[in-house]
Amino acid sequence: MHNDIEKILISKEDIEAKCKEIGAALTKDYDGKFPLAVGVLKGALPFMADVLRYTDTHLEMDFMDVSSYGGGVRSSGEVKIEKDLDTKVEGRELLIIEDIIDSGLTLRYLVDLFKYRKANSIKIVTLLDKPEGRTVDIKADLVGFEVPNEFVVGYGLDYQEKYRNLPYVGVLKPEIYGGEA
Ligand code: PRP
Ligand code: MN
Ligand code: MG
Repeated sequence: MHNDIEKILISKEDIEAKCKEIGAALTKDYDGKFPLAVGVLKGALPFMADVLRYTDTHLEMDFMDVSSYGGGVRSSGEVKIEKDLDTKVEGRELLIIEDIIDSGLTLRYLVDLFKYRKANSIKIVTLLDKPEGRTVDIKADLVGFEVPNEFVVGYGLDYQEKYRNLPYVGVLKPEIYGGEA
């Protein structure tokens, strides 16, 4: 599997250091509060687990599954709820956790949904930000790393459901996805 990777963009060590840094920031931000951490399945899973283990405050975890990519490389522009939260959002401090913001469609949709459901506050934390991919206006409150407009996989990020279990973020060899990212 590692043979499919052209280069490592962000190492396991860099990811761990960043999770500690962001966890410390969240610990301060949510001091004395009881935020609802919302992981966006499936990509956010490794980052959510790692960043929250360094967040030293009481918190609740829940998950949304929304999809925008439909298996391909490019975003289809559609967002669909596959699994909704089990938790009531009204009056809560929400912390949305993502692996990457690309077009911004997924997060734009979620932020609007949680505003409609009357969240008291909404913060976004993302491991990766790909500003060049943006088609709608959305910004994270905390960003781990900016990435160039390349097809990145690993540490939650997939190509056709593969590579999520890589411990680093890397760039896929073009011959694997057959062309331009
Ligand atoms: C990917 C990624 C983000 C979203 C970012 O999820 O994990 O959630 O796309 O793209 P956007 O900013 O253009 O909306 P995907 O829908 O592929 O589902 P997955 O997390 O299960 O891979
Ligand atoms: Mn995702
Ligand atoms: Mg995906």
